[in-house]
Amino acid sequence: MKLEKIFENNKIWADNIKQSDPSFFHKLAKQQKPEYLWIGCADSRVPANQIIDLPPGEVFVHRNIANMVVHTDLNALSVIQYAVEVLEVKHIIITGHYGCGGVKASMGDVEYGLIDNWLRHIKDVQRFHKDELDAVEDEEKKFDLLCELNVKEQVKNVLNISFVKNAIKNGKDLNVHGLVYDIKDGLLKNIEID
Ligand code: CO
Repeated sequence: MKLEKIFENNKIWADNIKQSDPSFFHKLAKQQKPEYLWIGCADSRVPANQIIDLPPGEVFVHRNIANMVVHTDLNALSVIQYAVEVLEVKHIIITGHYGCGGVKASMGDVEYGLIDNWLRHIKDVQRFHKDELDAVEDEEKKFDLLCELNVKEQVKNVLNISFVKNAIKNGKDLNVHGLVYDIKDGLLKNIEID
């Protein structure tokens, strides 16, 4: 695909929106007030706004490989702090997905270079849930389970961030959710967190 294609697509997209609401971009340019913060995987098959069918302005988005919230990741922490304290989002949604390449890579011993250091965090998730994972023999099911467990751990990580804890303690209307997206049928599933 040529680069011109993205400009063509963009023009058609913007024209379509302006046709149904001529002031759409004008209104949006003045402010954003999204209710959701989406933390998802960078995977091209898991595009935040499209999956939940929300237009620009409705979702604040952070994506990285395997939808992780690492305590020392200034990028993720800054996004979350801004979302919670300035935008005052009501929901933080961690969305993992089945078939996640990052999760899969963490299950093997192949070296990928720099990214191995990032994937270490999912190896930690495996260590925290060793018994539960060892009990599953089928490799595909184990892979699915790890995708879910990774989401659970990231929800816990968000809940353990100091300013998130304080926001909740101070009675802010803030909820943290864990979801898994199935790339085979396009559907989201809620992950129950203890
Ligand atoms: Co992924």
